[in-house]
Amino acid sequence: MLFSESSSVGIDIGSSYFKLVQLRETKKGYELELFDMLPLAPEIIVDGAIIDSLRLIEALKELIKKSRLKTKNTVIGISGHASVIIKRISLPEMSEEDLAESIKFEAEQYVPFDIEDVNLDFQILGPREEPGQMDVILVAVKKDIINEYVAVVKEAGLNPAIVDVDAFALENTYEVNYEIEPNRNVALVNIGASTINMNILRGGISVFTRDSSLGSNLHTDALQKAFGVTYENAERLKRGESVEGVEPEEAYSVISSASEDLISEIARSLDYYKSTAMHEDIHEVVLSGGGALIKDFPRIIAEKIAVEAKIIEPFKNISVPKKFDISYIHEVGPIAAISVGLALRKPGDR
Ligand SMILES: Nc1ncnc2c1ncn2[C@@H]1O[C@H](COP(=O)(O)OP(=O)(O)OP(=O)(O)O)[C@@H](O)[C@H]1O
Ligand SMILES: [Mg+2]
Repeated sequence: MLFSESSSVGIDIGSSYFKLVQLRETKKGYELELFDMLPLAPEIIVDGAIIDSLRLIEALKELIKKSRLKTKNTVIGISGHASVIIKRISLPEMSEEDLAESIKFEAEQYVPFDIEDVNLDFQILGPREEPGQMDVILVAVKKDIINEYVAVVKEAGLNPAIVDVDAFALENTYEVNYEIEPNRNVALVNIGASTINMNILRGGISVFTRDSSLGSNLHTDALQKAFGVTYENAERLKRGESVEGVEPEEAYSVISSASEDLISEIARSLDYYKSTAMHEDIHEVVLSGGGALIKDFPRIIAEKIAVEAKIIEPFKNISVPKKFDISYIHEVGPIAAISVGLALRKPGDR
């Protein structure tokens, strides 16, 4: 019954914005049906945990009303190093059915939480070079976090049809919009307010994911400290707007130095990836999330880590009807990257 409607809505519940995307599949490909965002007060979700579920539910109801959402089936995403574990592991070759039976046992040594406290999923990637072994992506998500988010969605009157992982939603968005080149390693890097989600694709296949607990709040905090401004005014400064009593050049220099801290964190993850068995270079960084919109961020990251960097265009291959304000959609599109990937999910996908 959950899947009786043809299309579902992707709602990315971020700590600073709700992002809502609904797509329609036409003969010519995907078309944007609904797009909306709603800011959230920073104290409602902290470190990925829902602190004030009543306010979150109220805000979600407001978003549903504002966007005139008709569909109930909803896809949400979970992220954060404290809630999601994604590991590429090697196991003896076996069938999907057999692995489904034994996954709990196999996963135990890779998951740092009590195995009873997580929902497990896996995807078999295929055989390895060593005979008799196969590569598997193991995904473990904490049940209490899933339950918290699912409860909010239900309380707001929606059907939580699929709970996805943000890093995989990002990959989906990339796949729909870009040509995969077999020998190219692309790092997808989504910079939210309190999280950075990374997913490295080698020839289009995810080989490394990491969520870290830094995000563009680093810019906000630095601005608040440096100029004694409110959260709202710090947010204005980040968007390049002027705030009384703050010199734009000084704000820019505080922002740039916070960007460098964020970039060091990203560089550490990339270095870690290069130090693993794969030892491979990254050819391109594709940025998304609100943090990617910080002035000059792509240029600074490209300089610092000496890799090409660009901002994702999540609607590159998705047609946007005239009823939308195209320039607005293009401007905020990178913030919606994960919600587009959520909206692309179909029941039965993994
Ligand atoms: N135009 C802009 N210029 C600079 N920064 C921006 C802009 N728009 C949004 N941001 C910043 O991006 C962040 C929000 O991005 P995003 O919506 O991707 O985060 P989130 O999903 O709510 O957070 P998280 O996933 O970490 O919980 C905020 O810190 C906000 O200040
Ligand atoms: Mg986010």
